[in-house]
Amino acid sequence: MHRILVIDDEESIRELLKDFLVSKGIEVVTASDGESGINLLKEEKFDLFLLDLMMPGMSGLDVLQEAASEKINVTSVVITAHATVQTAVEAMRLGAFDYITKPFNLEELYIAIKRALDVSRLQAENIRLKKELKKKFNFRKIIGKSELMQEVIKFIEKIADTDSTILITGESGTGKELVAKTIHYHSSRSRKPFVPLNCAAIPKDILESELFGHEKGAFTGAVSARIGRFELANNGTLFLDEIGDLAPSLQVKLLRVLQEREFEKVGGIKTIKVDVRIIAATNKDLEKAVTEEKFREDLFYRLNVIPLTLPPLRKMKEDVPLLLEHFISEISKKKRREPLKISREAMNCLVNYRWPGNVRELENLVERLIIMKDDEIITVNDLPERLHNKTPLNTASIKGHVLSSKGVDLNLMLDEIENNMIFQALEISRGVKSKAAHLLGLNRTTLIEKLKKKAIEFNLPENKIQ
Ligand SMILES: Nc1ncnc2c1ncn2[C@@H]1O[C@H](COP(=O)(O)OP(=O)(O)OP(=O)(O)O)[C@@H](O)[C@H]1O
Ligand SMILES: [Mg+2]
Repeated sequence: MHRILVIDDEESIRELLKDFLVSKGIEVVTASDGESGINLLKEEKFDLFLLDLMMPGMSGLDVLQEAASEKINVTSVVITAHATVQTAVEAMRLGAFDYITKPFNLEELYIAIKRALDVSRLQAENIRLKKELKKKFNFRKIIGKSELMQEVIKFIEKIADTDSTILITGESGTGKELVAKTIHYHSSRSRKPFVPLNCAAIPKDILESELFGHEKGAFTGAVSARIGRFELANNGTLFLDEIGDLAPSLQVKLLRVLQEREFEKVGGIKTIKVDVRIIAATNKDLEKAVTEEKFREDLFYRLNVIPLTLPPLRKMKEDVPLLLEHFISEISKKKRREPLKISREAMNCLVNYRWPGNVRELENLVERLIIMKDDEIITVNDLPERLHNKTPLNTASIKGHVLSSKGVDLNLMLDEIENNMIFQALEISRGVKSKAAHLLGLNRTTLIEKLKKKAIEFNLPENKIQ
């Protein structure tokens, strides 16, 4: 039920309006002067207020002014004498939604009220949706407690609300697109479009018209004019994904837009000016591509204003349990399943795995496990083969390690061996840390320190570890 406040100094009009609106199923509160009206607006919740402009003391315009400065966000319809339409216009400038002139017809008033309520409902809905969208891309969406990830998040917070071009690099599945969106939704451009374009997925000869648009008849098949992604992204952000795959001819054209912020449509002569923030991403080594002359050096420097590198998941092992928990809870909710638990041994495999496909690989694995599992504990046997060879018993001996011609990441390898030994010790000692420490020749506090630092066990709530 709607709730309306009527502010009018004439009792007969208050009564008339009240009876009429109540008969339409609306709850009505009345106020006989501006002061009590504004107080009610401050204290109670209304969907709309009806306001007489000509009142002794605080006038209707004063009420509107006060409501605006108090940020009272309630829509209003003002009632004015025929002679003072000028004031009505002033009232609308102060935020009134509509006005009606005296003498008024009640049905006409009702139509104005309904329209105001409709519009304000739509506006409220719009604000709610925008908030939701923002929530969707808030920083909490980026999971990671590791030092590396926390650094990334802090950096994003710092650079989000600038207009600078950003070049995001990182292996496949490290969250480049997620980060690009997060940056956009935390910039002052957030209400304008975020327009993605995957430079690798679109054939070279279509890409130019995708970027810049084309005029009717610009080429065979161009039956009507079309606007490109640059124009679509005007005042917003253009996300150029897989920029390393951009063809040389288009690299020149992109360079020009970045320098001059203007371009022409394919087949067009009119110069179009745009205000677009560019975020580019690639999993290629662009600097290397520059030295190999596959990527223009001048374009590289135009894009690499703020470089942001996303670390691979294997360098943030302590984030694996957090990410697992996050995706298990999200995907279970979506599929209406009880959240899965993970056995300690399986967790060991997951933490120590190299994750070549990074977070995306982990997300896909969780989804598959949730679909495949009937009972609720994931054990090593549920994990795909590729994750198995890192189980504690298989790598117990380090004698067999042979340095291949590709080399190794020694720190990572030592870390894996350390993790494996710690897990085995904990397993043999059934979790009694003093015993495990003894088996490893460490003292208890050193072991606890290590466990904390690795956060292998502690990052997951107790009930998730069997
Ligand atoms: N830190 C993170 N926290 C939560 N989810 C993440 C994180 N990193 C990545 N994801 C999720 O992993 C998936 C892959 O991320 P995204 O598509 O952003 O990666 P990408 O780097 O663009 O990969 P590609 O190079 O393959 O295009 C997405 O579903 C994304 O939401
Ligand atoms: Mg991507």
